[in-house]
Amino acid sequence: MTVKTLDDLFHETVKDLYYAEKKLVKSLPKMAKMATSPDLKSAIEHHLEQTKGHVSRLEEVFGMIDKKPVAKKCEAIEGLLKEADEVVGEIEDTDIRDTGIISSAQTVEHYEIARYRTLVGWAHHLGHADAARILGETLDEELAADEKMSSLAGDEDMRQAAE
Ligand SMILES: [Fe+2]
Ligand SMILES: [Fe+2]
Repeated sequence: MTVKTLDDLFHETVKDLYYAEKKLVKSLPKMAKMATSPDLKSAIEHHLEQTKGHVSRLEEVFGMIDKKPVAKKCEAIEGLLKEADEVVGEIEDTDIRDTGIISSAQTVEHYEIARYRTLVGWAHHLGHADAARILGETLDEELAADEKMSSLAGDEDMRQAAE
């Protein structure tokens, strides 16, 4: 579709993010499996459950703008996950691998945070207060997930691994 208005751009971005969140529901279990630290594993598994909720919220957002939930391939998330696989998959040392997983996870979170921040702003601008509210709930969870990863990266074990 040709994007002519901010409404179109909002819709296209929701489609893109819908693809990304669904892709993450498939990818996070693999990431959790690769992690060694039990804290890191459980943090990823916790965020997987939240991510399933992100998919449902986006389906609600489609409904709020009278559209059907349709995913549009998100090249950005594909690239980030491919790079994560390539780098992390080759690390044999478990501590260093965990550090790599945290870094990849945070890169994904930062992408999501950027997207949700933009969408919350546009939703307000377009008068979709209800959509802005639920997108904001997801944004808060992405921010918390990022902070959790930062705190895990600050753990003594992780710090030693990074040195
Ligand atoms: Fe998400
Ligand atoms: Fe996330």
